[in-house]
Amino acid sequence: MSVPDHVAIIMDGNGRWASRRGMPRAAGHRSGAQAVRAIVESAREQSVKTLTLFAFSSENWQRPKTEVRVLLDLFRRTIRREIDSMNESGVRLSFIGERAHFSEALRHEMAQAEMRTRDNAALNLVIAIDYGGRWDLVQAARRLACACRDNQLDPDEIDEHSLGARLALAEFPAPDLFIRTGGERRVSNFLLWDLAYSELYFSDELWPDFDGNSLACAIDWFGQRQRRFGRLPQAAATGL
Ligand code: FPP
Repeated sequence: MSVPDHVAIIMDGNGRWASRRGMPRAAGHRSGAQAVRAIVESAREQSVKTLTLFAFSSENWQRPKTEVRVLLDLFRRTIRREIDSMNESGVRLSFIGERAHFSEALRHEMAQAEMRTRDNAALNLVIAIDYGGRWDLVQAARRLACACRDNQLDPDEIDEHSLGARLALAEFPAPDLFIRTGGERRVSNFLLWDLAYSELYFSDELWPDFDGNSLACAIDWFGQRQRRFGRLPQAAATGL
């Protein structure tokens, strides 16, 4: 059965998980961070090569200031706490998104974590933070425009390849499997370009409840999909 090389996840439902238990939203996010740990481990065991997690969207700045602080503190503390064991288990960590709004200290820690783990190859863990699919397309368009202005590129040569090469996930193959927990069936400005041919899997489980077994179910479901990439079924099966 085929295993997706690249899995991308919208981890939704932390707030509802907490409120159902009469707990503050922050407690839901803390449980969500625990779930991240288990899913990273489980993805590695199930031979996923790249796991991209949506931790904080461009739009999440619009949440109350206290919640933004909780999320960013949790992100920073989780990275600090997990970096040694991730490094030991061969996880390469990288971040996609706009870093300019973060403190110098946080940017430094992110860069250090990337540098420390850059030679690891068991699993690529990509954290999307202050990320938006529209932001990604805009920054790629800006880079294309700069290349044209600097005479490195002819505007007539702009194509899917040259644009794709300037997107945040350019070095990784596109996600094969997209998962969203928490019951909503939408993409919410995640990897707009990269999800073009991903299989879309929606789970009603709230993120803190999503565990290795839930991931295995999603991977099983993926194994039963026939991916055609716009071709006829027969041609897709033979690769012709
Ligand atoms: C959505 O739940 C979740 C988020 C906005 C943040 C995801 C963050 C984590 C899981 C923790 C830290 C992550 C890392 C990578 C260390 P929600 O608050 O929108 O839930 P709701 O829809 O039930 O309100």
